Amino acid sequence: MREEEIIAATVAFVKDELKHAEGGHDWWHIERVWKNTLLIAKDENVNLLIAQLGALLHDIADSKFHNGDETIGPLKARTFLEQLQVTAEVISGVIGIIEHISFKGGHFERSYESPELAVVQDADRLDAIGAIGIARAFHYGGFKDREIYNPGIAPDLHMDRETYKKNTAPTINHFYEKLLLLKGRMNTDTGKKLAEARHRFMEIYLEQFYAEWRGDV
Ligand code: ADP
Ligand code: NI
Repeated sequence: MREEEIIAATVAFVKDELKHAEGGHDWWHIERVWKNTLLIAKDENVNLLIAQLGALLHDIADSKFHNGDETIGPLKARTFLEQLQVTAEVISGVIGIIEHISFKGGHFERSYESPELAVVQDADRLDAIGAIGIARAFHYGGFKDREIYNPGIAPDLHMDRETYKKNTAPTINHFYEKLLLLKGRMNTDTGKKLAEARHRFMEIYLEQFYAEWRGDV
């Protein structure tokens, strides 16, 4: 199969896999991450097939929606790619991305590195911040029936992985527990630059949110 055919087949597979996905982790999230991956990759030395397939397949079975099981996504992706007959090198690069892209709570330590992971992780993180990141956070909070904000519940800045997974705190807390930390964790120069503006937008948003909550504006 030519590369374009591999990509087209993967797009069709992912669209089908995600047809019932929650709105923050649906095909449109994947499409944005894919576009950002291509943008960031322009200035990086990466295998574009691995990076694109990693972007397309990174959320096909998010553990959040599979009782915390983190093995389903990589396994599904591997089975799919084997049937497309891509090389073993491409498969292991893609699986490396899927297994290591996510961060839970304050846990940023890396047990695996690749230039393709660095790019796709930045692309995924960009979609978690800025205006779209805000929309996704509140959408997810609604999906999970969380409070929007509760002045009596402080953000927990030092959660371990298990606590993060079980966390049921109000959505505003998630900004402090994750979203505002992402700017400082970008891997690439392009990612860092794009994160700046999106980060600033979240800060302005939060200022306005508290001003309205107090009744100041
Ligand atoms: P990743 O998929 O990169 O591991 P997450 O699953 O933590 O990251 O988050 C994916 C999306 O879901 C992000 O937009 C994030 O803001 C949102 N999200 C995850 N957990 C929460 C939460 N507790 N409250 C609000 N939004 C959340
Ligand atoms: Ni994602």
